[in-house]
Amino acid sequence: MAIEDSLEYLGQLKERALLGGGQRRIDAQHERGKLTARERIQALLDPGSFEELDALAVHLEDDANGDAERFYGDAVVTGWGRIDGRSVGVFAQDFTVAGGSLGEVVGEKIAKAMDLATKTGIPMIGLNDSGGARIQEGVGSLAGYGDIFLRNVRASGVIPQLSVILGPCAGGAVYSPALTDFIFMVEGTSQMFLTGPDVIQSVTGEVATFEELGGAQSHASKSGVAHFAVEGEDEVLEEVRRLLSFLPSNNMDEPPTVDTGDPTDRRMDDVLSVLPAEASNPYDVRDIIERLVDNGDFMEVHEFFAQNITVGLARIGGHSVGVVANQPLFLAGVLDIDSSRKAARFVRFCDAFNIPIVTLVDVPGFLPGVSQEYGGIISHGAKLVFAYAEATVPKVTVILRKAFGGAYDAMGSKHLGADVNYAWAGAAVAVMAGSQAVNIINRRELQAAEDQDAERARLVAEYETELEHPYIAAAKGYIDDVIDPRDTRSKVASALEVLRHKSEVVPPKKHGSIPL
Ligand code: HXC
Repeated sequence: MAIEDSLEYLGQLKERALLGGGQRRIDAQHERGKLTARERIQALLDPGSFEELDALAVHLEDDANGDAERFYGDAVVTGWGRIDGRSVGVFAQDFTVAGGSLGEVVGEKIAKAMDLATKTGIPMIGLNDSGGARIQEGVGSLAGYGDIFLRNVRASGVIPQLSVILGPCAGGAVYSPALTDFIFMVEGTSQMFLTGPDVIQSVTGEVATFEELGGAQSHASKSGVAHFAVEGEDEVLEEVRRLLSFLPSNNMDEPPTVDTGDPTDRRMDDVLSVLPAEASNPYDVRDIIERLVDNGDFMEVHEFFAQNITVGLARIGGHSVGVVANQPLFLAGVLDIDSSRKAARFVRFCDAFNIPIVTLVDVPGFLPGVSQEYGGIISHGAKLVFAYAEATVPKVTVILRKAFGGAYDAMGSKHLGADVNYAWAGAAVAVMAGSQAVNIINRRELQAAEDQDAERARLVAEYETELEHPYIAAAKGYIDDVIDPRDTRSKVASALEVLRHKSEVVPPKKHGSIPL
């Protein structure tokens, strides 16, 4: 074919690829308030940076059967581009072609794009909008998913993998995202479920709408499957760009440094006003995080799930940090099954991607209860201990108000390998609070006392003076210093600076056996 003829033919094929499943289905996609795959890629990437792969890939067997429509590029658009000038790999499932379902061609295209991202060390972003395995292609579809899962797992801890759910995603279309590091969902237009409402009703009799079953709020608050729930597609893609700004391109790289203009020696002048006068009253730990980090810029992860712990990304001195903080606003900041899982996962992510961990402790302990015990709090709490102990990135911990019991150990204590540990003057570090302790260690005195309330108050005061303060821990070196809360930012920044080139050698092993 002459070059001119070939170029003309190419133009025709590309035009067909651009149309995906056709104008009627594109219109239907827009009517649902959804963008097309290509429009999403344009919105996500730096303008003009997208390079497409396999736009001409097509399922050749369709023609042999003679009864199927040929869709060039099939149901996914793949390639690479840039975000804030940094290269990323991307795929966007095209719901206009067979509901974005995954057959052999789609599986091969996604696998190829993932291979490229993994071998070049760039983040991989998946924009998901798919009805799952393409039913007509049978085991070929299942094989396609298996190939993607393998790559998700092999790339885990090597490159950041981000999944955005932008439509109804079913079956295999949710398992690949579940293997990635972060899942973003859009309020109202995206759902995730293994089996849809009809199947569930026929099997268990339970009735739930698509949204109740697998909507953004359900997964962001109840199951914890989604890390972010955002209103609007443009907004969610903007959040993806924001998250990437905190992350390195791969595990051999450092996160980008940003000139934030916020001096590290800035005093946190009004931080004391955040703490309530009564030590057991709640406050929002985000008010402390925002004073601690550069310009108050904190990207909270899992904001609506296990709200008794707050985790997220920020910068101190222009360098990315992962923040883990007990949240007294919910359940007094206690550690339970969900908060342990949430924090453990976040700590491991930070450790895999060279992001130092700053832990802010205000914890009354692990949550007592039959349902917690039956639910396996022992194993789930152990995940958090495991994650902190395993992490070799710089770890800086500040006890704000209290650290009681096993939770003292679990929350980034010196004993689990934290590098620098501070406690605010006024913090309580003990096995338990005095109000509980006296019931156990002073039971006989309390029973014998004429005025039990007065005796209790006396014993609690005595306990607080003798045992419930940070100075015993400081005397033993478990806490490196007791600090003025207003100096927290400069102290933490200085610790992170000295730890910048920390290297910690662990004995060689294949991997640990975290209590999953
Ligand atoms: C082939 C599919 C498809 C699928 C949708 N379509 N899902 N084609 N295989 N899995 C097609 C439809 O036939 C339709 O084609 C177009 O996509 C749009 O679908 P609609 O049903 O019209 O759209 P909507 O009403 O929005 O519903 C979307 C949906 C629904 C909720 C995703 O289509 C659905 O429930 N699909 C099946 C989901 C499912 O059970 N998937 C298999 C999971 S098993 P036309 O030609 O009309 O545009 C699985 C195993 C993997 O994934 C295991 C790995 C571990």
